[in-house]
Amino acid sequence: MDRAGSIAARFAALSGEPGLVRLDGIHPLKHALRFGGVVELAVSPAKAALLDLARELCPDLEDRLRDLVLEVPPSLFAALGPPPPSPVLAIARRPAIELSSLLTSEGTAPLLLLDRPVHAGNLGAVVRVAAALEAAGVIVLGGVDPWSPVALRGAAGLQFALPVVRLERLPGPIRRPLVALHPEGPPLGVEPLPAGALLAFGTERHGLDPALRARADAVRAIPMRPGVSSLNLATAVAIVLWEARRLLPSSTRAG
Ligand SMILES: C[S@@+](CC[C@H](N)C(=O)[O-])C[C@H]1O[C@@H](n2cnc3c(N)ncnc32)[C@H](O)[C@@H]1O
Repeated sequence: MDRAGSIAARFAALSGEPGLVRLDGIHPLKHALRFGGVVELAVSPAKAALLDLARELCPDLEDRLRDLVLEVPPSLFAALGPPPPSPVLAIARRPAIELSSLLTSEGTAPLLLLDRPVHAGNLGAVVRVAAALEAAGVIVLGGVDPWSPVALRGAAGLQFALPVVRLERLPGPIRRPLVALHPEGPPLGVEPLPAGALLAFGTERHGLDPALRARADAVRAIPMRPGVSSLNLATAVAIVLWEARRLLPSSTRAG
């Protein structure tokens, strides 16, 4: 097989390779590289333009991108799938995640639990804010993959900055205090959230599974103006993480 054929074959095989992910555009690639992701292949139909963009957006990575990215003919690039927002496509390895240590609270940073979210883009927005606000990780229950190309794009590839994992259901023992976020309940911001909490958020339409809510050690609501039913999932996550972080001394945040 020639070089073009082998590049096309590697992108075509991605759907059958759960250990690999596709990165669309410069932002997911940038964060994969910054946070230690293993990038196996990166291709561009316009490498000079890509390096100009890198100089503007991520000058720290310009040299690495120069070495890493292969220039390919535009016809081959177009055949690799929907056009990305900037002229680069890459294949990276999905990091392995130690679930049992994630479920054990050894630090004060909260861990997010998303109960059956539906929209991959929304999920990406959650991962992005979780990375920015130093959550310990994100566990996604249900069928939507937080490492799909849409979720990776929504998160700008920040899945590489913290553990992000999908599970069918929550395993039995969780050694973290479970806090359910629900539009009705005691208001956030009065009592501090427990250190190292597992913060559970519901699905976009139906909210939190009642069984999960019943299992919670505490419930918190973000106070809203009367008449407003709920906040967007990623917006609710951002507010709660900000509140959780605000109450922790900076020396104890990581972990
Ligand atoms: C779009 S909302 C779901 C709305 C759903 N109809 C309900 O009643 O829960 C998605 C998730 O964001 C969180 N959320 C949204 N607004 C919230 C609020 N004001 N207080 C606490 N959590 C909220 C909850 O975890 C909720 O399940």
